[in-house]
Order: sequence, then structure tokens, then C-alpha cells
Amino acid sequence: MESLNREPDLRVRIGPLVLPNPVGVASGTFGYGQEYQDLVDIDALGALYTKAVSIDPKSGNRPPRLVETPSGLINSIGLANPGLPAFLDEKIPYLQSLGCPVVVNVVGETESEYTTIVEAIEKRIGVPREGMKGPVDGYELNLSCPNVEKGGMAFGTEPELVERITRKVRKITRRALVVKLSPNVTDIAQIALAAEAGKADAVSCINTVVGMAIDVKTCKPLIARGIGGLSGPAIRPIGVACVWKVARAVRIPVIGLGGIGCANDALEYLLAGASAIQVGTAIFSNPRAPLEILEGVKTWMRERGVEKLKDIPSLFRFPS
Ligand SMILES: Cc1cc2nc3c(=O)[nH]c(=O)nc-3n(C[C@H](O)[C@H](O)[C@H](O)COP(=O)(O)O)c2cc1C
Repeated sequence: MESLNREPDLRVRIGPLVLPNPVGVASGTFGYGQEYQDLVDIDALGALYTKAVSIDPKSGNRPPRLVETPSGLINSIGLANPGLPAFLDEKIPYLQSLGCPVVVNVVGETESEYTTIVEAIEKRIGVPREGMKGPVDGYELNLSCPNVEKGGMAFGTEPELVERITRKVRKITRRALVVKLSPNVTDIAQIALAAEAGKADAVSCINTVVGMAIDVKTCKPLIARGIGGLSGPAIRPIGVACVWKVARAVRIPVIGLGGIGCANDALEYLLAGASAIQVGTAIFSNPRAPLEILEGVKTWMRERGVEKLKDIPSLFRFPS
């Protein structure tokens, strides 16, 4: 094992989009960027995955909607967001000023809402120009949120629906198209194959795991809606296993997330077959975690003489 005395190649291709490095910030944990601009060098990120955008503004579910559990966090935010018109008018100008790729997380209550949202954004920002970073560089279809009554996870558990929605959105945009998968299914590889058949450029996995916590003093659930989505270190082994299964099933890149808090966590995902990763819940306790993780991955690659990020999965030694 010989160490590397030059910078490793960290670029990742997601369809038409080249990420400068593999470390992104996960949807819903970094707002639309502005909220973190004084704390983090956003331009140094591999990608910013925005909070979900829906057609109408949503105030979200009633509180309490966050509770800490052993090594985890249950949330039932309910996709609170300002809605499509405010996104177009207020968020896009700010996103345009960023130097890192921006992927907009899209959520709908009906199939047609996904296409309506992407169509409206495309109309506002125009066709992508070769080599130019736009205010929006791709879309992540949230077909996997457990915290809403309609849409979200209900779509992501049916392979036919996943393929159909992906195909419809694909027809509208030439920008990178990522489908976000739920672990709350029998066979996540089947859902990933459906996204690939619908011509997604990548899949991201995982969204949160359905969870519940109960206060035995009051005999009530600790979040108002009862169940919510579990995130944080508690779900990392689930995420790594999902990425491993999905990466063996599809040919498109897999973006891994779930419980990543340090470089070793990210490397677990990269060894399991992820081409890139996202950091979510860890940002709440350490907003600089994504950039620290990036440095840690670079150091690991340099020490092991790994020149290219895409060589990492081949280092995984799976017992035969
Ligand atoms: C407070 C909160 C809000 C979230 N909002 C969204 C969202 O709007 N869209 C989405 O696709 N995922 C959302 N997620 C899921 C995360 O993007 C991520 O898939 C999940 O939390 C697992 O990663 P982590 O363990 O690193 O947080 C949210 C998660 C949290 C904790």
C-alpha cells in the first residue's frame, strides 16, 4: 500500500452533472442553504439537496414533531416548506449565487404534482448550458417520505408507480434526475430497478425508517402524529445494507445516506458501493460535519494510495 502525494480525484458523475466531490447535505437538514451560510463554506460541498418543494406551502404536522431516541432522531415534520411560487421567487435567486451543485428535492401528493413542479422550475430557469452551473442542477424525487398522509412513501413502495413518475419527469428535464428510495419496503432493489427503468440518473438511499416512541408517564406517543421517520446513527447499518443491495442490482450510481457522522461512516457507504453520500441529522449537532467528512475521506484515500473515488468499491473485501 503506497501513499499518494497528490490530491485524489473526487469527482462523481450523476448523469449530465459532475459533482466536485462526493459529500452532499441531505434534504431537510440544510434548508435551502441560506440558513447555514454563516456557518459553513457551502461552495465547498459536493452538492446541496434542498428541503422538499411541494406545490402549495405546507406548515407541516402539528408539534411535537421531533424526538431523540437512542442514537437517533424521530421526525414528523410533514414536509413543511414555502411552496412552489415562493421557491421560484425567493429561493432560486439565492441558489443561483452558490458555487456548489444544487439538487432540488421534489414532493407531490399526486403523480402530476411531481411533473408540475419540475416543469415550473424548468420554465423559470431555462435549458441547461454546457458546463454552466445553474441555480438548479438536478432534481431528487422524494418518493419515500413516511411523514405525509398522501404521496411520499405511498408512491415509493410500488415499482410501477416509481417507474411511471420517473419516466414522466425524465421527459421534462435534461438535468440530473435522482430518485430517493425508502427502506420501508420488502425489496429495495426492485424499487431501484424501477427508477432505473424510468431513466433516472441515480438513486439515493435511504430516507428515514418508520419509527415510534412512547412516553410511559403520559401513555402518549412522543410525537403528535404517532409514527415518524427515524434518522441518525441508529439507521446507518440499514442504509449501508440497502446501498449494498441496490448497488449490486442497478448500473446507475447510488447515493448513500443514513446516519453518516464521520469519514469512517461515509467510507462504509462508499465501500458498499455508493458513488456519493449525503450527511443529514449529523449537521444538527455539527454543521461542519460534511466538510470534515470530506477531509477525512481524502486523507483515507491519500494514505492508501487510492487515486480515484470510483476505485473505492473495488477495495471492499466480501468474504466468499
Ligand atoms: C428534520 C428532517 C427533515 C427531513 N426532510 C426531508 C425532506 O424534505 N425530503 C427528503 O427527501 N428527506 C428528508 N429527510 C430525510 C433525510 O434527507 C435523510 O434521508 C434521512 O434523515 C437519513 O439520513 P441521516 O440519518 O443522515 O439524517 C429529513 C430528515 C430529517 C431529520
